[in-house]
Amino acid sequence: MTTITLEVNGRIVTAEVTPRTHLADFLREQLMLTGTHIGCEHGVCGACTVEIDGEIARSCITFAVACDGARVRTIEGFDDDPLMARLRDAFATSHALQCGYCTPGQLVAARDLIRRKSSEPDLDIRTEMSGNLCRCTGYAGIVEAIETVTAEAPAVPALPTERWAGPAPGPGAQPARAAATALMVSSSPVRPPSSGPVRGVAPAVPARQIKVEVGPVTVENGETRFTQSFVLEHPRGDVWTLMRDPARVAACMPGLALDPPGADGRLAGRMEVKLGPISAGFSGDGTMVRDDGAQRMVIEGRGSDRKSGSRASGRVEYTLSETVTTSVPATRVDCVIAFTLQGPLAQFGRSDLVRDLVGRIGAAFASNVDARLRAPDATLAPAELGGVSLMLGVLWGRIRQAVLRALGRAS
Ligand code: FES
Ligand code: FES
Repeated sequence: MTTITLEVNGRIVTAEVTPRTHLADFLREQLMLTGTHIGCEHGVCGACTVEIDGEIARSCITFAVACDGARVRTIEGFDDDPLMARLRDAFATSHALQCGYCTPGQLVAARDLIRRKSSEPDLDIRTEMSGNLCRCTGYAGIVEAIETVTAEAPAVPALPTERWAGPAPGPGAQPARAAATALMVSSSPVRPPSSGPVRGVAPAVPARQIKVEVGPVTVENGETRFTQSFVLEHPRGDVWTLMRDPARVAACMPGLALDPPGADGRLAGRMEVKLGPISAGFSGDGTMVRDDGAQRMVIEGRGSDRKSGSRASGRVEYTLSETVTTSVPATRVDCVIAFTLQGPLAQFGRSDLVRDLVGRIGAAFASNVDARLRAPDATLAPAELGGVSLMLGVLWGRIRQAVLRALGRAS
């Protein structure tokens, strides 16, 4: 057995592997990252495509020991990637998958193609994607989806010329790795310095962590209630200008899309929720009551997910007040949230899970509001609530707490 240490989806992993273990098997069987699929195991079909140090590679013909010290990114590691979010949307819209077996590899390869070559006028998507086989779709939808995203996405600089091709070169190739890794520090698409403005793509603004306080969670008669507060280092007037507008608020909430308000002020929209193995899309409507004098908003809504049969209703009330942080004028946002879940997703109404989840969702929302206030045209986090990363974050937080408690270090 050989001990290897590598970074997988942003997490440092140390493990024992046999010299003949392939990266795909290591990812799936030791790290349980089963989004990487295995088809041919001969490097032909592309189902196992992952990113290694910023370049795509076939994990079925890459030895795990060769990745010692490398940075590996699987399909699960792209949950927060704006370009991948656009590709996923386009794949859904263009019906670019049927059984979905080839899809993780198609997405990773397509993202790589767009990053490198979207500015090439004669880009031949069919040829470029010919290393990824699909038994179901006939490719038309896949090509259409990639064309759609290519039309709006920027290219990135070419990787260093001394880069390796194919499977990872092992620990001996550190300089090339370091150079490749340097280009991959941001998960957002980067454009060449001389290429000028890019159509339809605003620059990303670095996210700032905003601390969110979550009050006690109570569950009574099926309704879950809690309070949530955070402070934004922006004047109260600026924050209210954003938070009085439901469309702008929705744009900061992961997973939420709002239709333009109707003439009667009613709101309609859709909330995508993906928690571990469960995904749901709630369609529904609601009302809002705004008090500009008190800078207070109350939004009520209800919706259902036809696929899972889950129903949800809820009420969010938030009020702004002035505060000061390190002598900067700031705004405190106090929220009272109550909701009811029925159906398969009702298990997420349990108070212990809610507290973990809402803290993370609230932090993502607060961070997006902060980013939007700093740069109104900035690119925000992808509009997907949770996904694997959220659930894993929750679980990881719990495991960490348990370990700290066992060591007598928990608060
Ligand atoms: Fe790796 Fe087919 S499983 S290329
Ligand atoms: Fe089934 Fe591609 S969607 S193999």
